[in-house]
Amino acid sequence: MKTKFAALVAAGVLISVGPAKAEDIKVGLLLPYSSVYASLGKDIEAGFRLALEHFGGDLGGNTVSIVKEDTEVKPPVGLAKAKKLVLQDKVDLMVGVVSSGVLGAIRDFVHGSKTPLIVANAGNNHMTGAKCSPYLIRVSFSNGQINRPMGPWLAKEGIKKVYVMAPDYAAGHQMIEAFRSGFEKAGGQIVGETFTPFRKTKDFAPYLTAAKATNPDAIYVFYAGGEAIGFVKQYASFGLKSSIPLYGAGFLTSPLYVHVQGEAADGVTVALHYVPTIDTPENKRFQADFMKQQGRIGSEFAVQGYDAGRMVVEAIKASGGDKAKFKDALSKVSFTGPRGPLKIDPATNNVVQNIYIYENKMQDGKIVQMIKGVSENVQDAVNGCSM
Ligand code: PHB
Repeated sequence: MKTKFAALVAAGVLISVGPAKAEDIKVGLLLPYSSVYASLGKDIEAGFRLALEHFGGDLGGNTVSIVKEDTEVKPPVGLAKAKKLVLQDKVDLMVGVVSSGVLGAIRDFVHGSKTPLIVANAGNNHMTGAKCSPYLIRVSFSNGQINRPMGPWLAKEGIKKVYVMAPDYAAGHQMIEAFRSGFEKAGGQIVGETFTPFRKTKDFAPYLTAAKATNPDAIYVFYAGGEAIGFVKQYASFGLKSSIPLYGAGFLTSPLYVHVQGEAADGVTVALHYVPTIDTPENKRFQADFMKQQGRIGSEFAVQGYDAGRMVVEAIKASGGDKAKFKDALSKVSFTGPRGPLKIDPATNNVVQNIYIYENKMQDGKIVQMIKGVSENVQDAVNGCSM
């Protein structure tokens, strides 16, 4: 005799129970909405939302909802907000973190809570090295990855003596270290360094005076956000631009604020994982729709948010919305986005991607980015990661 259940299945009534029920995937955006990196956080969010529009049309009935928290670029605040998102809001994953310092502060909590974090900016090398975690997946870059190609590049340009500068926190030290080691290996010499107080330095004049006194062939820096705007403008108004060429990690002249730097950014050469002038259909679509929505060019920060959003969407599609499978699917996603081909290295969970070297050039009253070199599929060493 058939059970009632079997009879219902036979009649086709219960067959629709088979597929997983539609889920709401709750995303916690953990970003700076105030302080020195506020504009970066807003750009990451704009990119994330654009990806949901571009790729999230058919999620098989599943939905994505967003809760936002402001890290204020302060490690203890970032940790408190991460705990709030996971424990109180019960998010399924977090996306964000701009500062390497904040990422360092929340790493153990992310790992212990088993709540995935898609890192959409912070480049802290250790987090995909000795402090790696299966729950920490980086779609942005590592600090070493961006700066490594620049040492040999400057040496090839005939530059022998370089002065280095950056804000005094994890990202500043790691970016400069990656440049330094490549430059010294290529025969270059670092003639001096300054690490300026992070989030507090508005006047770079005393530091620029010290740098100039060492008579370098070039100055190499990492600054981003509000500090980058101030630094590049003061470098020019201090009269250094005409005598000492300026190089750096590309956040220095991000399209997010290069129009504010204007003439002061002309001639500055940098390395970065994204350039708005990349000539591919994926990038053209991203830029056209970002421009339509925001009225400006999409920056590397917007692309990081966009690729994080696409990663979430692709993982929902691959897992059918099943939350346990969804977490595993995240790091297996690979695609060609605005910046080019992108995949997550299973040995470290850091992104593998192209790094572009480009010069900012003033043309018809606008800064344009002229690509001068590309290092393809740049992948970090395992650096002590075991997952
Ligand atoms: C970082 O702290 O890792 C960081 C912040 C801003 C950037 C890049 C890296 O533009």
